[in-house]
Amino acid sequence: MALHIIDHPLVQHKLSIMRDKETSTMKFRDLLQEISMLMGYEITRDFPLTYEDIETPLMPMKAPKIAGKKVVIVPILRAGLGMVDGLMKLMPSARIGHIGLYRDEETCLPQFYYYKMPSGKERTVILTDPMLATGGSACDAIMRLKKDGYTNIKMMCLVASPQGVEAVQTHHPDVDIFLASLDEDLNDKNYILPGLGDAGDRIFGTK
Ligand code: PRP
Ligand code: URA
Repeated sequence: MALHIIDHPLVQHKLSIMRDKETSTMKFRDLLQEISMLMGYEITRDFPLTYEDIETPLMPMKAPKIAGKKVVIVPILRAGLGMVDGLMKLMPSARIGHIGLYRDEETCLPQFYYYKMPSGKERTVILTDPMLATGGSACDAIMRLKKDGYTNIKMMCLVASPQGVEAVQTHHPDVDIFLASLDEDLNDKNYILPGLGDAGDRIFGTK
């Protein structure tokens, strides 16, 4: 399905600060949260509305409210956690699932270690991970969600490589991808270029 690149100047400005290797962990984390909130505005654009009777202080009206079951935000651990708070600010009653995957340093293949979702397979899933590099982690996470019965999945990343986007679009053409930037390439260690380095380490200060 569709690839959406959120080219809003605020998103692009904040992303440039995140890419800078001199940016501190604290600043990096704050900016990721702010960008996630701004991207959340676009990712929720097609949410259906229903009309409910309310009374304003002046008269009754049919007021638009978001229809359907609550959304579930699903970070791919660890780095995807950095995008949750921004989305939660927009959707405070969203449920949270977790998928634990890390990329093996030698093979770059995703290793699965945790899966926990709330009830309700009909919920819209917003899968978060700042980095879409080879696409292996995203494809495995989406496959796991589909195996569990989820059919409405959106993927929200900050930065992607062309190879990562192609992998998701090939294996999961039904999943819309939302990005702040489609970068140039991968290096020989499968890091995104120009990218922003290791997102998990930069969010959690682990290197
Ligand atoms: C990073 C990133 C993605 C994955 C992307 O996680 O957050 O999950 O790599 O790479 P891929 O597209 O080639 O699979 P990492 O494995 O470093 O784990 P972490 O978030 O726990 O640091
Ligand atoms: N994981 C990251 O955190 N960064 C990359 O560039 C690739 C994978």
